[in-house]
Amino acid sequence: LQDLRATALEVLRGNDLGDVTRPSPTLYPHQWLWDSCFIAIGLRHVDPARAAAEVLSLLRGQWPNGMIPHVIFAEVDDFYHAGPQRWRCDRYVVTASGAQSTGITQPPMIAEAAVRVGEMLDPKARIDFYRALLPGLIRFHEFLHTERDPDDEGLVTLVHSWESGMDNTPPWMEATLPITPRRVKVLRRLGTAEALDALRRDAKEVPAEERLTSADLFTLYRVVRELRRSCYSFRNIRETEVPLVQDVAFNAILVRANDHLVEIAAEAGVKLPKRLTRSMRRCREAMEQLWSQSTYFSRDFRTGELLRHETVGGFLPLYAGVVPEERIDGLVKAMTSPRYWPRYGVASVPADDPAFLPRCYWQGPVWVNINWLLADGLERYGRLEAARELRANVLNLISSSGQMFEYYSPLDGTGAGSNSFSWTAALLLDLLA
Ligand code: DGY
Repeated sequence: LQDLRATALEVLRGNDLGDVTRPSPTLYPHQWLWDSCFIAIGLRHVDPARAAAEVLSLLRGQWPNGMIPHVIFAEVDDFYHAGPQRWRCDRYVVTASGAQSTGITQPPMIAEAAVRVGEMLDPKARIDFYRALLPGLIRFHEFLHTERDPDDEGLVTLVHSWESGMDNTPPWMEATLPITPRRVKVLRRLGTAEALDALRRDAKEVPAEERLTSADLFTLYRVVRELRRSCYSFRNIRETEVPLVQDVAFNAILVRANDHLVEIAAEAGVKLPKRLTRSMRRCREAMEQLWSQSTYFSRDFRTGELLRHETVGGFLPLYAGVVPEERIDGLVKAMTSPRYWPRYGVASVPADDPAFLPRCYWQGPVWVNINWLLADGLERYGRLEAARELRANVLNLISSSGQMFEYYSPLDGTGAGSNSFSWTAALLLDLLA
């Protein structure tokens, strides 16, 4: 385990860009929102001040409307397939630091990271850190609850699957398909996947079958184009065909983040706006609308229909702490059954799903961050044995490959996707602590 720890530290050092950490040296050369949060959760064990800086650095990208973007572009020349020229956000807004960014957000893990980092700081440093973070963090949560919940339904709506963080998760891809560009439809019909592959450059580092398909990727680019044409304003976006999803995992993470925000504000002696605390309560209550029979689902904002494709996202209400006690054992049973947990931790899609691909991104693999969130939820519900076992499995998964992969096959534990992946390294440090 000492070797593993050393490998993790090396990965984080190698991905350190000074004040921020990139997710991986090749595929992801900039700063990603939820990546930086998980990274800070690990870094706090090594260098709490640097971990606090990682969290605070996210405010550099904040938009005037409060949004914190999913990617803040670093001043590097490395190739990235969805770089500033795809978004052209500088035409519409200037971010807090003038840095270039994407025009969408990502799961709001900031408050969780802040509390975890805060635990490692002495009281004075913690209060200073919280006070520096709070104005921006409050504005971010306000943005989510207002701009993204314009009809006051309690749930926050996402405008791109990249906002969910689970890019090609089946319910999102199904919701996004209707917007597939004609060119891609034709190529898809002709079966010329190779033609599409030739047009992309991101699948060169890792085998193409471990990434989303080119057809799916082009569909996601198409959504970006629509967002750009809508000037990234929800009022305009809702008039387009862009998929609008009240994502279960995102909202679950937000509910937990809201609880942490209350804690942070109380400790810093800052009063939260009344309207925000009302939205927080409504969001928690509205999670119930995503429950159906035996799991939670995301919901289509326009039709109000649940997107009934089961994924690991359906378990994240455990992390949110919104699941009534009488449902817990059923959810835990489903999550620990061989469908989801064949051996190496909870898969992103159950193994008996026709869409299941054990090494393909969010269509099957085990992700360390999601398992970390699930273990945290299990623990707070007093399911200590399940939480312990899940953490031990994840540790075992990483140590059997000896490397920090982006994700792992739930069937044989082999690593896939990008190697030298920061949040795997960071969360390993946290699991070992
Ligand atoms: C990518 O680069 O494909 C990312 O997943 C988008 O966040």
